[in-house]
Amino acid sequence: MKLLSVLVSMFLLGGIGYAQLLPLPIFNPLDPRFDDWQPPGPGDSRGPCPALNSLANHGFLPHSGKNITAIDIVRGTFEGLCLSPEFSVAVGVAELLKSYTLASFDLHELSNYGFIDHDCSLSRANIGDGDNNDFNETIWSVPLQVLKNYSAITPQAIGGARTARDLFDIAHNPNQECGARSIAFGALDNGLLIASLGGSPKLDWVRSVIEHERLPTNLGFTPTPLLINNSPIILTLALASLLSQPYLIEILGNTVIKMIKNPADLLAEVFPIKGYNITYITSVLSLAGFSSVNFQNFL
Ligand code: HEM
Repeated sequence: MKLLSVLVSMFLLGGIGYAQLLPLPIFNPLDPRFDDWQPPGPGDSRGPCPALNSLANHGFLPHSGKNITAIDIVRGTFEGLCLSPEFSVAVGVAELLKSYTLASFDLHELSNYGFIDHDCSLSRANIGDGDNNDFNETIWSVPLQVLKNYSAITPQAIGGARTARDLFDIAHNPNQECGARSIAFGALDNGLLIASLGGSPKLDWVRSVIEHERLPTNLGFTPTPLLINNSPIILTLALASLLSQPYLIEILGNTVIKMIKNPADLLAEVFPIKGYNITYITSVLSLAGFSSVNFQNFL
């Protein structure tokens, strides 16, 4: 039966040329790559996600940031940030598989608007204002001002920081498209960031990831294994950050956002599962070494 399902997977993945099943990756808190950080060189590609850029700087993704596949992302985010594979799928890999199937891409391609990129990011300009890919110190200074009031970053702290960022953009930028989409994805980014840094990170750790694209092991952060499926934790933190922004939801959110009351509602908003070919996605996860992911038991 198992052989049959592997053959079916390979059939479904036809067109890749060859398909090789990788072993289940291991999250090893003592992995030497956590302490090995190299900034990008002149020809290297980096994208709008500070976490994926950090993984490339630590070698959990190819350091060049080039010729990366969805399989590299699933394995790299697991090995470097202990992100469970189903959540990688929800936050971007499902879209990657739609756009590229298993063809490779460079990290900067993730800033293509309409993919996962959205306006009102914490540390990037909007696409209408030019560079929506690279860290922007001026943009970041607004949410940072709020975060400086906290020594440990809670969902409410980062929710407040996002509100400040959005309100600043609304006041100063007539072209901004901050709205329901940026609110929902922004909340998800908040949950991911806090969860992957242990749940209640120090401000310096958050700054390390956003400003230097470096996992803050040099600042006392200890990588900690989480449950194999950390989706409920991430979504709960994301929801707490979302619900701490009622003013923003009121002025920017549409009725759908206003009706998000629990982690499942938020997940459905950012990852409408019926829009994806789950059989194909599950086959890719098997190739990546995760053979037992079941999207029926996501939460
Ligand atoms: C634990 C893993 C991850 C963490 C901690 C993380 C964290 C973040 C954070 C904090 C942002 C917002 C940056 C900002 O507002 O300036 C972001 C943006 C982004 N992330 Fe990730 N991420 C993770 C995994 C992923 C994965 C698997 C993908 C899949 C391709 C992805 C793609 C993106 C993209 C495209 C953006 C840009 C969205 C935007 O702000 O316009 N991330 N991520």
